[in-house]
Amino acid sequence: MRHFTTVHDIGDLKTAFKEAMDIKSDRFKYNHLGKNKTLMMIFFNSSLRTRLSTQKAAMNLGMNVMVLDINQGAWKLETERGVVMDGDKPEHILEAIPVMGCYCDMIGVRAFARFENREEDYSEKIIQQFIDLSGKPVFSMEAATRHPLQSFADYITIEEYKKKDRPKVVMTWAPHPKALPQAVPNSFAEWMNETDYEFVITHPKGYELAPEFVGKAQVEYDQEKAFQHADFIYAKNWAAYEKENYGQILSMDMDWTVDTKKMALTDNAYFMHCLPVRRNMIVTDEVIESPQSLVIPEAANREISAQVVMKRILESL
Ligand code: CP
Repeated sequence: MRHFTTVHDIGDLKTAFKEAMDIKSDRFKYNHLGKNKTLMMIFFNSSLRTRLSTQKAAMNLGMNVMVLDINQGAWKLETERGVVMDGDKPEHILEAIPVMGCYCDMIGVRAFARFENREEDYSEKIIQQFIDLSGKPVFSMEAATRHPLQSFADYITIEEYKKKDRPKVVMTWAPHPKALPQAVPNSFAEWMNETDYEFVITHPKGYELAPEFVGKAQVEYDQEKAFQHADFIYAKNWAAYEKENYGQILSMDMDWTVDTKKMALTDNAYFMHCLPVRRNMIVTDEVIESPQSLVIPEAANREISAQVVMKRILESL
């Protein structure tokens, strides 16, 4: 594997799951692969899980790790070509990226959608510049349109907990006070569409995701109907995708919060969320603290998904 930005970079999902289980059974088994190799993690946005799980996975593989928070301690970066740089940004990304590439063997990048321009966000300009200019393998630690390390961990978790070959997985929109990117729901949908699960997306009208991510999923606007017979409920907020209101909050309808009454409509479904989660907005305390909540095992699997991806990159060097 050279770069990892989408489900299409991982190949057959069942093979990837077997590799994940192999690593989970002994996470230090491939410690020799990373000897004298350096991972550089670049964060344009905040993180808890991605930062810690990816660093831990790299250490399990025997790698050295460097972390740079672009907004804390680095020069502010100009990202537009042709700009007269007489403002508060002393360094251009077109020099910064090749320089970063000089100091490492692979680069993880986190760069969220900015919600200024939908075409620019959906062109994945920042991570694509790292791929084009760093000279090193690049993997996404959440980009503008996808969060593949999260979705891979979600897929691993569902495979571990599913009680039937073809579970019903429901991704539901839920209310949130801030406008959030579509990266997690896009990516989750993209991965679910690569499985043979029954996959349903439910959200209020106006929150339709880009058709290329919805794919073959069933879209159901009635949340209670969608929850019936579900085996997994995957909750997430996202802002509007449609061009006329891209990045906007259209609803704060608390009737969409996942609560025990709605979970009772399911087939004793597991509850999932990528975290961080706003309690009693997205999900009630009772549901997230219930025995059916998988949010902690799901986060734990972030170490495993990152380790599979970096192992494959190391094997390709
Ligand atoms: N789920 C996830 O990516 O968490 P962080 O934003 O804390 O990294």
